[in-house]
Amino acid sequence: MKITAFGVNQEEQYFFEKLAFEKSFELVLTAEWVTADNVVLAAGSDAISTMQTGAYDEALFKKMAALNIPLLALRNVGTDNIDFAAAKKYGIKISNVPSYSPATIAEFVVLTALQLLRRTKEMGRAIEAGQLIQAQKMTGRTLFNETFGVIGTGHIGFTTAELLHNMGVKVVAFDAFPKKDAPEWLHYTNSLEELLQQANLVTLHVPGIKENDHLLDAERLALLPQDALVINTGRGNLIDTDALIAALETKHLAGAGIDVFEYEADIEREIQSGGQPLEPHYLKLQSMPNVIITPHIAYHSMKAVEKMVANSVDNIFSYVQQGTPLNPVE
Ligand code: NAD
Ligand code: COI
Repeated sequence: MKITAFGVNQEEQYFFEKLAFEKSFELVLTAEWVTADNVVLAAGSDAISTMQTGAYDEALFKKMAALNIPLLALRNVGTDNIDFAAAKKYGIKISNVPSYSPATIAEFVVLTALQLLRRTKEMGRAIEAGQLIQAQKMTGRTLFNETFGVIGTGHIGFTTAELLHNMGVKVVAFDAFPKKDAPEWLHYTNSLEELLQQANLVTLHVPGIKENDHLLDAERLALLPQDALVINTGRGNLIDTDALIAALETKHLAGAGIDVFEYEADIEREIQSGGQPLEPHYLKLQSMPNVIITPHIAYHSMKAVEKMVANSVDNIFSYVQQGTPLNPVE
């Protein structure tokens, strides 16, 4: 069996090589994201393993079909960047890793929330500038007294809610399909609007499908209590960034934690070509002392990386040996 893996970083390389040795398969690795222009690197492979936030488009699937590569096995959860109609047209199967380490993302949400509440960006800037007296005056807020609104209670949202609950935080949640076996501490609201009226902090854990475009728009952001904080580790399109900036500028919102960003593709293009990010929304948010922007890294722990690689390879083995991946996505 031969597997070509795209978008491979250093620690993934270690896990891929370990598995190739243990399971005896031929392996080609590249750090490049897969596109129609470079997919020929995978010629002769049984499947492609991949992870990227860039698009998987029709041109790619057409070339995969021409190269007789039937499976694109993602190493991640989100599938919002896939042209599923084109994949189907060219007979390409897709698999993902539906849950690799929800705790990694949940912990990142708590980290971001605490950083915002204790004003660490603003404080760090003051300390670096030698303004220690100003830093001493920066009063924080405690998570303990806050109400956290969790939007989406699937793998990651539920784990985040559970972690917060165990820290003594009151959690309210909204999901289009609430958990049937929800624990008694998890209070579901009847609508997203109701959640926004109750929560001092909000965290997004729904997929970036088209229907969820600008789920938090100006009207919904306005429902949040004054001084609320918004954290997004879901997908960039979930928040209307112009509306978010306006809410921060008018001080309706106290801050935001943005791990996934509406203009992420532009930034990726800028940094992949060796430049600095110049996208104007990014620069605006980055300049704000009460906004923490991270480059889509909530997932990034060693435990997560190991499972992402292993489960992607398991999907490929299942497809080659049994004709279907373990985690097909349609
Ligand atoms: P999941 O499928 O287990 O859960 C998603 C939940 O959202 C489901 O319960 C669904 O019913 C609910 N939902 C969808 N649309 C909704 C809406 N409009 N209103 C209310 N509920 C809605 O997914 P998951 O594993 O928890 O992952 C969630 C998302 O997190 C992924 O789709 C991905 O985009 C993102 N993610 C980000 C990172 C990162 O590093 N930042 C890492 C992994 C996943
Ligand atoms: C996901 O698993 O969906 C992520 O957002 C991780 C990212 C590296 C693609």
